[in-house]
Amino acid sequence: MAFVIAVAQQKGGAGKSTLAANLAVALAEDAPVTLLDTDPQQSLARWHAIRVAQGHPPLPFDTPSGWRVGNALDRLRRADGFVVLDTPPQVEADAARALRAADLVLVPLQPSLPDLWASEATVRIAEAEKRPWRYVLNRVPPQSRVAEVVAEELARRRAPVLEARLGNRTAFATAFATGQGVTEAQPRSAAAAEVRALASSILALRGQ
Ligand SMILES: Nc1ncnc2c1ncn2[C@@H]1O[C@H](COP(=O)(O)OP(=O)(O)OP(=O)(O)O)[C@@H](O)[C@H]1O
Ligand SMILES: [Mg+2]
Repeated sequence: MAFVIAVAQQKGGAGKSTLAANLAVALAEDAPVTLLDTDPQQSLARWHAIRVAQGHPPLPFDTPSGWRVGNALDRLRRADGFVVLDTPPQVEADAARALRAADLVLVPLQPSLPDLWASEATVRIAEAEKRPWRYVLNRVPPQSRVAEVVAEELARRRAPVLEARLGNRTAFATAFATGQGVTEAQPRSAAAAEVRALASSILALRGQ
């Protein structure tokens, strides 16, 4: 059975597509990965089109929307490996459908209070659907008082946060622009190390 990971966060620009692309590429080193872009903005679909045009190995890819999301997942779940789903920046029907079918919901969170508040609607759906979920801290600056404040607030809420986090690094945007993940474009970078740590923690969660 494939393990379905939905990347969701109501807040626009939180890093959903960046996380989905990089995690899919890193996981694909060990297992078959299918990517689904359910966002009408199609950022991930365009990333994948660049990937193919530039001759990087394509990933199985689809862009289902509406009720087709559930159908696509029912079919893909029968295979091995992982399905990574990118979702739109809202918590309407499509995002909710993707969350409902997920084995794990990853909620990228930039360390600021407005971003934390904006994530609450997504978290509520994951909890209502009884889906396991984790925050992934993204664009974390090297030192920041506000990041500490958010970390303290997350601890106070006993919110599930993955230890692996992604820093605020230009390597992510650079790799995205060439249709790659950072583990391919800059394999020895700090960004690549962070993505590998994230992929390891997902493999560990799946094993539980
Ligand atoms: N860790 C990071 N370091 C630096 N830049 C980042 C990082 N993560 C994301 N970005 C940048 O932030 C912007 C938004 O990222 P992305 O498109 O992945 O967010 P999103 O949540 O998918 O947005 P939307 O809600 O519009 O779908 C992009 O320019 C991306 O390159
Ligand atoms: Mg996106």
